[in-house]
Amino acid sequence: MLESVTAVRYVAPLREGGSLPGLVEADDLGTYVVKFTGAGQGRKVLVAEVLVGEVARRVGIPTPGLAVVDLPSAIARYEADEEVQDLLTASPGRNLGVDFLPGAFGYDGSHPPSPEEAAAILWLDSYTANVDRTWANPNLLLWHGRAWAIDHGAALWFHHGWPSRPPDVGRFVEQPFDPAGHVLASVAGPVGQAHERLAPLLTEDVLGEVVAEVPDEWLETTGSLPDLDAVRSAYLEHLVRRLERPDAWLGGAG
Ligand SMILES: Nc1ncnc2c1ncn2[C@@H]1O[C@H](COP(=O)(O)OP(=O)(O)OP(=O)(O)O)[C@@H](O)[C@H]1O
Ligand SMILES: [Mg+2]
Repeated sequence: MLESVTAVRYVAPLREGGSLPGLVEADDLGTYVVKFTGAGQGRKVLVAEVLVGEVARRVGIPTPGLAVVDLPSAIARYEADEEVQDLLTASPGRNLGVDFLPGAFGYDGSHPPSPEEAAAILWLDSYTANVDRTWANPNLLLWHGRAWAIDHGAALWFHHGWPSRPPDVGRFVEQPFDPAGHVLASVAGPVGQAHERLAPLLTEDVLGEVVAEVPDEWLETTGSLPDLDAVRSAYLEHLVRRLERPDAWLGGAG
């Protein structure tokens, strides 16, 4: 499970984020960028953030630490901004905290990561089907001389179909990835080599640990996934089986 902290102060909204993430101080003296369960994008984007962020961490890609931030209802009551107050009121309990990287710059291409580091990030996005790392929205921060990967809510799109359909694992497993618009496409080294280096780190046990990090409250059961174990198993099966089929999704990036 992710570390749990309690919010003590809502500092400010990060208005550039589509889901209105907010800067929050917590009782561990940490400052977090919090993504709220009550945002329009729903809880599934928080699940994707945890799964992809924790996969990234396990293969050595710099990415901010993640925590569960418990939001007491009193914090919403004292918020003056109406839009923020509505969001906080809709998000009692457990939300996602992303360790705030103070002084980080948005990636603009002027300090590219090494070909190997760039290939690792392009490989991560190919594996997890993350189309949200383009020049329009780089979702990379420069901090202490390295490129840090953030914002993984758009990856692992397969779960958005679950409420109405049983999981179709094969469709996701074989979905090609088009690296053309990726912000690191022109600086990345061979992504096939990145796969050979990184995929062995993600054994089924390791991916099982990653899936276990997701808080119960964010997982949605459905008719065909009737309990939390079934939901977690479905995530694990998607991650394990796609990893076995780089021929399907590394085509464009290899
Ligand atoms: N850990 C962090 N440290 C410092 N700044 C951050 C961090 N996470 C996010 N930010 C800043 O907040 C912005 C919005 O964050 P993020 O992209 O994760 O939110 P989002 O709501 O998913 O955004 P969008 O959907 O608009 O891309 C980032 O572009 C970045 O400037
Ligand atoms: Mg973003």
